[in-house]
Amino acid sequence: MTDGKKARKIELFEELKWLYMELYGDEEAFGYFVKILEKNADERRPSLQKLDRIREDDEQWYHSNKLLGMMLYVQNFGGSINGVKSNLPYLEECGINYLHLMPILDSTKGKSDGGYAVSDFRKIRPSLGTMEDLENLADACHEKGISLCFDFVLNHTSDEHAWAKAAKAGDPVAQSRFFIYDNWDIPHKYEETVPQVFPTTAPGNFTWCDEIQKVVMTTFHNYQWDLNYANPMVFNDMTDNLLYLANRGMDVIRLDAIPYIWKELGTNCRNLPQVHKIIRMMHLACQLVCPGVALLGEVVMEPREVVPYFGPAEKPECDILYNVTTMCTTWHSLATRDVRLLAHQMEQVCKLPGNCFFQNYLRCHDDIGWGLDFAFLGQFGIEEVAHKKYLNEWFTGKWPGSWARGELYNDAADLGDARTCGTTASLCGLESGILEALDNKGGESLKRGIDCDLMLHAWLFTQTGIPVIYSGDEIGQLNDYSYHEDPAHWEDSRYLHRGKFDFGLAALRKKKGMMQQVIYDGLQHLKNVRAKYDVFRSDANVYVYYTGDDRVMGLMREYEGQTLVGLFNFSEHPADVKLYPPDEAESLTWVDILTDAEHGPREGERHTDMHLEGYGFCWMLQK
Ligand code: GLC
Repeated sequence: MTDGKKARKIELFEELKWLYMELYGDEEAFGYFVKILEKNADERRPSLQKLDRIREDDEQWYHSNKLLGMMLYVQNFGGSINGVKSNLPYLEECGINYLHLMPILDSTKGKSDGGYAVSDFRKIRPSLGTMEDLENLADACHEKGISLCFDFVLNHTSDEHAWAKAAKAGDPVAQSRFFIYDNWDIPHKYEETVPQVFPTTAPGNFTWCDEIQKVVMTTFHNYQWDLNYANPMVFNDMTDNLLYLANRGMDVIRLDAIPYIWKELGTNCRNLPQVHKIIRMMHLACQLVCPGVALLGEVVMEPREVVPYFGPAEKPECDILYNVTTMCTTWHSLATRDVRLLAHQMEQVCKLPGNCFFQNYLRCHDDIGWGLDFAFLGQFGIEEVAHKKYLNEWFTGKWPGSWARGELYNDAADLGDARTCGTTASLCGLESGILEALDNKGGESLKRGIDCDLMLHAWLFTQTGIPVIYSGDEIGQLNDYSYHEDPAHWEDSRYLHRGKFDFGLAALRKKKGMMQQVIYDGLQHLKNVRAKYDVFRSDANVYVYYTGDDRVMGLMREYEGQTLVGLFNFSEHPADVKLYPPDEAESLTWVDILTDAEHGPREGERHTDMHLEGYGFCWMLQK
């Protein structure tokens, strides 16, 4: 290690110690924590250490515009870890080089919350394989240049985790790891200020535990016991678990539901300052032990709460965050055919410093919550409850004329706060389109659905960040209604978009004219072009390009003299917009790098007239 690197490590360690003592003021606990760091550093395999060295010199390795992500459920995509391994050629063919495996740690069937209720942080669910299988998969992925992302669920454990079991058996030390109360007095006080995450599927934030005749804090489901990070033992052991998982060969660790990890009576128990301190400490622990690992934060909060989780550039908390605001604003724009909020949102995203790096996505395993900037929408007379109702009716196909097919999630009658579930394809109208086509009503609706689906992906691929496809979306997979028959899942409509990957349908990607082929090839083309041009680099300058038409979103990217304008028609009707070159530009000619078609102005004019079909899009590069 060079002297410079040694000095840097000492600096990081000093900061970690300072933060730890500030939060816990406990020398003994810190001593124990240091041993955890040493043990995990010793256990790190040489091949991973080699990767650490490479990435230490290229700290923003995950910023490449050549990255394309996919998230998938192991059980849905090959049945097991080894099944995923044998299906790697498919992912390679898709050009995936960043793979997020949905939770696979041990959890109890029927109360697993899709794997987010972990009963053992060091054991894979037996039906899916073993830790060794996971390490082998990581090696196989690395050989193919694929980075792996793995979930770390840190806010809670399952009530079947060893700590919860010991707590249920009356062990006071184990009980001190959770929030456990003798009666409902304090829980009721909390309920006065703490909102509910799942108001209909899991109401309230506390659960009565019969075994100990006490009340336990359970912010999410009643079987997910909140961990108490005010107890340094919890922080120590959970960081140990985090490093253990990193050492299995993971490249990115997804920190689940982080805004919730610190609780304070009288607050909403979200985004408290201590949360930021703890995430910074975990980041420091990784920098010291496994610097090649990046942290992806899941912060599903209103826009102004999200960005602080990047932390200051010189003291990062999360390296990557879900771009949840752009995601839900994108769906809002689709349902309203109005991109004004999206443009306003992107203005803010574009101004963020370079360390603020997002994972962009259209759909993930969760619902779409309508966390829109309602203060901004208010100026157009849009009111929150009524608008959420509209969006939900549009996306569930209840609004007259809507072709979207989705289902509601957590529709608590009194809150007017329901959210939406469904796959990209079904929400874009492919499901209704296919039914119409089968009914011999012509293929227009189907074509409109495909166009819409591709336009949304093109929009996704234009943004800076890692585009992450939700498995199945690359072939336009539809909703899976079979969860309605499964008692373990029928209360949770998120399973609507958690169906098994259909390899049979995937085979149709090779059949010319099939919808799977059109979508698959469309996405491939976008990915290839994105990787080829430097304007898509993460360090390009990006601006909102105002098209003068509220239906058409525009984004301009500039890198070393190259200018690209992406135009996206969020409406089913054609639109004509004027494409202006930047002020000082000499060349007035553009080429659509997706079709190679050249476009230029009419004699004597500077602007080019652009015609976009319904849901049309283009990537115009200035010649
Ligand atoms: C995260 C997950 C979600 C889960 C919750 C509780 O938000 O994405 O699926 O229900 O955490 O662990």
